[in-house]
Amino acid sequence: MPANEILYLSRADVENVGLNMRTIIDLLQQAFMEKGSGRIEMPPKPGIHTMPDAFIHAMPAYIPAMKAAGIKWVSGYPENFKRGLPYISGLLILNDVETGIPYAVMDCTWITAYRTGAASALAAKYLARPESETVGILACGVQGRTNLEALSCLFKIKRVFAYDTLPDVQEKYVREMGEQLGLDIVGVKEPAQAVRESDLVVTSGPILKHPAPTIDRDWLKPGAFASAVDFDSYFSGAAMAQMDRISTDDHAQFQYYKSVGYFQNTPDPYADLGELVAGLKPGRQLPSERTMAINLGLALDDMAVAPAVYRFAKEQGLGTRLPL
Ligand SMILES: NC(=O)c1ccc[n+]([C@@H]2O[C@H](COP(=O)([O-])OP(=O)(O)OC[C@H]3O[C@@H](n4cnc5c(N)ncnc54)[C@H](O)[C@@H]3O)[C@@H](O)[C@H]2O)c1
Repeated sequence: MPANEILYLSRADVENVGLNMRTIIDLLQQAFMEKGSGRIEMPPKPGIHTMPDAFIHAMPAYIPAMKAAGIKWVSGYPENFKRGLPYISGLLILNDVETGIPYAVMDCTWITAYRTGAASALAAKYLARPESETVGILACGVQGRTNLEALSCLFKIKRVFAYDTLPDVQEKYVREMGEQLGLDIVGVKEPAQAVRESDLVVTSGPILKHPAPTIDRDWLKPGAFASAVDFDSYFSGAAMAQMDRISTDDHAQFQYYKSVGYFQNTPDPYADLGELVAGLKPGRQLPSERTMAINLGLALDDMAVAPAVYRFAKEQGLGTRLPL
């Protein structure tokens, strides 16, 4: 871009780029390899909090090997659905790595949805049994969709059990995701039915500072993998104490969240995703292990994906050029 212009990409523009999930998983794999090798810059995210259980976070990161630098300004508001508004929304700015000048501003809703699903699948690559074939999805929102899509890129999924507190949301999910991914998806009435028989479990309900977790000890079967996209809101302390391995995506951010009141009953993770990808820590060792990923969501994920969205948007002539 000329240094006096930015490319603005609306939510529709970003969606229309159509970056596929497989590519996003590969981009995250590269970015976490860089993280594991200590070659990225990513300060912990500061935030402001205008409503209970809501956040607006500033998420900067620089990945030299991917020439990616920028920041995401993202909000999460659990009560938004009552107004027909998305839980997650925000903007992302990309900066030129040599001059620092911003060259793109884009809606970050789509990237957040897809990179989070991709991060679950990447963790599952190291922590789940490769022959995993049943999936439990608890919360059929945006994350319930992208997490299933990402898992279906890496695993031969035969059956999915889907649960949401809102029956119409669950029904729509069963119908639409079944068609989109060509999978056998069964809606279930109780959370336990989505957990007990599943090899891969994703929980993606609201993140609460004072949760009343539903999933108890022994619900997750030996050999299964869980991705807690909603932190410790769904899994009880007793269930997490039973895990043989818990990973996160960043130790420092995990400790930060712990210091402000989350994860009070969660054992400290033994590895982060960068350490797993770079081979510094082992993944699953035995078929019988119960494993869990608690990915908090990193600026790194967004900066791995956003430059690719920008490049493809430019190639396809998408977006609006604006003067700086
Ligand atoms: N860790 C990360 O990197 C990351 C990234 C993005 C979003 N998130 C989190 O993921 C969660 C979901 O985000 P989203 O964009 O999918 O929101 P969404 O509003 O699209 O979906 C949330 C769904 O949860 C359902 N729900 C509420 N309580 C439930 C319960 N107890 N059991 C089952 N379903 C329940 C709602 O009916 C809704 O369908 C949020 O907590 C968000 O903060 C985490």
